[in-house]
Amino acid sequence: MRISVIGCGYLGAVHAAAMASLGHDVVGIDLDERKIDLLARGESPFFEPGLPEMLAEQTASGRLRFSDSIEEARGAKVHFLALGTPQSSSGSADLSHLLTAVADLLLVLQPGDLVVGKSTVPVGTAAHLALTIEAAGATLAWNPEFLREGHAIADTVKPDRLVYGVNDERAVALLDEVYGGILALGTPRMVTDFATAELVKVAANAFLATKISFINAMAEIAEVAGADVTQLADAIGMDDRIGRRFLNAGLGFGGGCLPKDIRGFIARAKELGVGDSLAFLHEVDRINLRRRDRVVTLVRDELGGSIANHRVAVLGLSFKPDSDDVRDSPALDVACRLVLEGARVSLTDPQAIETSKRLMPSLDYRDDMLDAVADAEVLLVLTEWREYRDLDPVSLADRVAGRTVIDARNCLDVERWQAAGWRVVSLGRPVAAPRVLSDV
Ligand SMILES: NC(=O)c1ccc[n+]([C@@H]2O[C@H](COP(=O)([O-])OP(=O)(O)OC[C@H]3O[C@@H](n4cnc5c(N)ncnc54)[C@H](O)[C@@H]3O)[C@@H](O)[C@H]2O)c1
Repeated sequence: MRISVIGCGYLGAVHAAAMASLGHDVVGIDLDERKIDLLARGESPFFEPGLPEMLAEQTASGRLRFSDSIEEARGAKVHFLALGTPQSSSGSADLSHLLTAVADLLLVLQPGDLVVGKSTVPVGTAAHLALTIEAAGATLAWNPEFLREGHAIADTVKPDRLVYGVNDERAVALLDEVYGGILALGTPRMVTDFATAELVKVAANAFLATKISFINAMAEIAEVAGADVTQLADAIGMDDRIGRRFLNAGLGFGGGCLPKDIRGFIARAKELGVGDSLAFLHEVDRINLRRRDRVVTLVRDELGGSIANHRVAVLGLSFKPDSDDVRDSPALDVACRLVLEGARVSLTDPQAIETSKRLMPSLDYRDDMLDAVADAEVLLVLTEWREYRDLDPVSLADRVAGRTVIDARNCLDVERWQAAGWRVVSLGRPVAAPRVLSDV
């Protein structure tokens, strides 16, 4: 089937490549020429495991093309909308990219085409857009996307479920044809109305954010009560009504989705006159942001009350491992606050230095992790990349000026670090004092 994917960011580029891998003839459209140039050469404009291989294979097969011209979408039977819906200054979702793209698409849309929204939008958006799309003789469906950066390929070709928000039998059949290869794997698919499909996405993200902030609130209590939040999470997580996933206490959530989605959801509920229903999400957001304050406080405390002029090394900048995405990254936020307080901060990350530089060009980035930690008085692990979880605390001990590590993701083997002479300061756990200083 001929398919266009409009917007080739984290979602759209992966979706376009995945649709081609299912055998469709796909064109990806984006306004960003740099992105299109890379994608057209079969290269990924961002870090996502498995994507470069998939792009190279699918562009070489001739099934996948990219263009900056909406004209190339003419003739496609199905058009996916994968535009960004960032947070506006009021907290609500900014739909301007989506609306501009729909206006562009109307120039080439043909009667009988199916337009499929994948962007995360405020409930009510699809019903509104359907009016213009139906006036052009086409049909609209809303098909929210649940991919996780770092697992985007697997999540796209083998998702937990497919949700079609649509009220047209022919559109359901077309979507079934598009996703034939995925449905053949036994993937559950639900057909709902527009509003339910839109809500499924924001409700799922609100739930996940709440679960993370719940355990981070427990971490705040554990810190004053002298308890260990990781043991607490293990123990409550063994109850299968609760489950252990998303109960890792730490620096909290960030990225291009969870923070803006819960704020957009709060704003939309207020517009609908049911703001009280989501009042708890304010608290979820506040708990999340307080974890960043807490890490800055810990650094200050470890350095005797003032950060100014002290050398600090930051390991990890992306909002989570296996991604180079630094949108609303807790790690980059903490690093910037330390710089603002006058610390001499060297920053490193396995993949997110370039993306961080685009946002914060003037910080002291080091490609070589060993270079970043040299002479640091305090080491901060802010993103739980495998490289950092597997660090050798013994060899690192000789490079730093002070053997204090702040494990803001509860990802280090505390006993190993202690045994190598480190003081390990964690979120939601008692400080672990160094064990065998003389052996190091
Ligand atoms: N990133 C994720 O993990 C993820 C997961 C699920 C859902 N989503 C949702 O998917 C949507 C897209 O997210 P993203 O992370 O891919 O955003 P993104 O910012 O990475 O990508 C959006 C792309 O759209 C392009 N664009 C903007 N205006 C355009 C236009 N008029 N025509 C063509 N292209 C245009 C931009 O250049 C950009 O490349 C958002 O609503 C997001 O909430 C994202």
